[in-house]
Amino acid sequence: MGFPTFCYNQLLVTPTIPTASFDGQTAIITGSNTGLGLETARHIARLGGSKVILAVRNIAAGEVAAKDIERTTGCAPGTCEVWHLDLASARSVLEFAERAKGLERIDTLVLNAAVATKIFRLAEGGYERSVTVNTINHFILALLLLPQLRKTGLDYPDRAAPPHITVLTSQVHAWPEFPQSKDPRGIFVALSDKAAARMDERYPITKLLNVYFTTELVEQTRNDNGEVPVIINMLDTGFCHSELSRENKGIEEFGFNIFKAIFARREEVGARTTVISASAGVETHGKYMVNGLIADEALSERVYNEEGRRIQKQLWEEFTNIAEEVKPGIMKEFRS
Ligand SMILES: NC(=O)c1ccc[n+]([C@@H]2O[C@H](COP(=O)([O-])OP(=O)(O)OC[C@H]3O[C@@H](n4cnc5c(N)ncnc54)[C@H](OP(=O)(O)O)[C@@H]3O)[C@@H](O)[C@H]2O)c1
Repeated sequence: MGFPTFCYNQLLVTPTIPTASFDGQTAIITGSNTGLGLETARHIARLGGSKVILAVRNIAAGEVAAKDIERTTGCAPGTCEVWHLDLASARSVLEFAERAKGLERIDTLVLNAAVATKIFRLAEGGYERSVTVNTINHFILALLLLPQLRKTGLDYPDRAAPPHITVLTSQVHAWPEFPQSKDPRGIFVALSDKAAARMDERYPITKLLNVYFTTELVEQTRNDNGEVPVIINMLDTGFCHSELSRENKGIEEFGFNIFKAIFARREEVGARTTVISASAGVETHGKYMVNGLIADEALSERVYNEEGRRIQKQLWEEFTNIAEEVKPGIMKEFRS
């Protein structure tokens, strides 16, 4: 997306307010104590969600968010539940998924949480932290919950659309050079090499990884009969106010705040696009959405050209090994 399109989207397009009903449904939104995740949860509660699970690493902040949602939407007390999820820890993801087994249904899983950091740190498991949080553990969570989402579609067939997994990506997926994609040691190993890390392009890389992973997950779950038991789609919310740039300090913070003041959407407006994706029809399966509309033409060519296909397949192969280490059998079980 070039700068003129960016300006057009940010200044002249206002995504519509979502109206789809979430009546009786259960939604899980990762990283929903603040920013776009909080506003996504608020929209879903407003639209009738029966159980809105705020999957957060900071329970106290989650409780404040839950109370705020219940106060502002007038939803029934107890609609919002705050569950602990630290995406930097595979153990936490496994515990979360185990707890989720007690849910009667899961209609919506929004992979929203993210960290944008220039500080290199390894997470539990030995991979760089933002790659772990934004991508690896998010997709392990998706695999663990996928059978329940599929079952929800079967158990509750009277619905406007199948259950959803909606993945937050970003237009910045097109930006990084991503030299690690050619590293003979493997992409995740290369991304976890501190000496070679260029952290200024790390967040965009994780958003590119999420595009590849979403596309591959769609391919991995393709049914021969063409049915779509779970809609898996991805989106860009547009540039929004949030706490994502919380690390910026000094002149960088000052400059970015001016840029934000001119161009950024309010969190509530950006979250509209997430909720539209998380309630959209089967025509959005495998698609990239911008402004709440299918916009595959806005994907970088690097996603679908020959080299992109190679990277996508390699990433999935590497991810398979990581996920199997976290939970042996996962790569078979998610298909059940
Ligand atoms: N803002 C934009 O312009 C924009 C544009 C396109 C896409 N997006 C995407 O929108 C999503 C939401 O971002 P945002 O802008 O709303 O940012 P944000 O305000 O910083 O919110 C990020 C959320 O992720 C959570 N999180 C971070 N590390 C976590 C971990 N280890 N485990 C669990 N949760 C964790 C944060 O929790 P804490 O509060 O505890 O840190 C917070 O709730 C991201 O996926 C981002 O890439 C944003």
